[in-house]
Amino acid sequence: MPEGNDHTPPAPEGTPAPESSGRDGPRPALTRRDFLIRGNAGALAMGVMSGAGFAAMVPEAESAPQATVPDPMRSRRVTLDVDGRGHDVTVDVRESLWETLNYQLGLSNCNLGCDRAQCGACTVVMDGRAVNGCAILSARAGRGQEILTVAGIADGPGVDGLHPLQRAFWFDGGFQCGICTRGFIMAAYALLESNPDPSDDEIKEALAGNICRCGEYPKIMTAVRTAAAEMRGQPVTYLAPPVERAEPEAVAEDAGGRVSRQFEYVTALGTIEDYDDLALELRQRPGILDVSGTERTVTPAWDPTRLDEVRVRQILEELGHPVRPE
Ligand code: FES
Ligand code: FES
Repeated sequence: MPEGNDHTPPAPEGTPAPESSGRDGPRPALTRRDFLIRGNAGALAMGVMSGAGFAAMVPEAESAPQATVPDPMRSRRVTLDVDGRGHDVTVDVRESLWETLNYQLGLSNCNLGCDRAQCGACTVVMDGRAVNGCAILSARAGRGQEILTVAGIADGPGVDGLHPLQRAFWFDGGFQCGICTRGFIMAAYALLESNPDPSDDEIKEALAGNICRCGEYPKIMTAVRTAAAEMRGQPVTYLAPPVERAEPEAVAEDAGGRVSRQFEYVTALGTIEDYDDLALELRQRPGILDVSGTERTVTPAWDPTRLDEVRVRQILEELGHPVRPE
């Protein structure tokens, strides 16, 4: 179970009583974290929400001056070691690790679910232990601890470079919507680093702080067992092994002198409608004569007297859809 589940950041002076945590109660207009962070931004006024039994904070006035300089009493300069790279950053002493990773460092390597140490979606591994990023204060995580996220456990490009857990969650189908997946993978990572051959009960215990609302628990268990076996050097088979990808077509020249080639996107498009938008923009580029494609590949045909393959690749990158190298 990720640590930090019982951690509650210290509230500043004047903080009203915390809102009800009852599952069936009304949701607060502002979360506890909104309250804590906004409390550092300037003057605030109290407002009592009818029926909710908690107080909400609202800006005192539209024109109230905003703090632009970090308050030295409420901020710390820290170096966060994330996935082997140091990040020097000034953090609010009440700022969670998840907030710093996402809002200050632009690292979307863990999800936010409950923001109160209950779902495990934000799990990262710190010094070998699974912790909830939403419940760890960045000011305390920048003292030399090694923070590992799901982006830091692969050791190379492509499917072969994925960590066995990442591959197993993918090919054993240990996810549906994916909100919980990064947290499950990191909780399982911490487990397998310390226990390479866990029993089912040990896996369940290690993942007890992670919730999957899609209910993919059986396949999550399968994925962890598969990854553990692979990490022990045993041959593994997956529930849904990957389909072999067809080799991209080589550059072809047709009777009209047009050159075409199939490229595979680095990141597949979300929907076929995205392809339609891309094709429209591509056709407007000088030298592009035709386009066909799917969510995974695009095959432009171009005039070789005006463009070459390098330039076509550049155009695709300019349009926001870089393609894989040879
Ligand atoms: S436990 Fe951190 S977002 Fe739910
Ligand atoms: S896959 Fe949707 S919450 Fe787990």
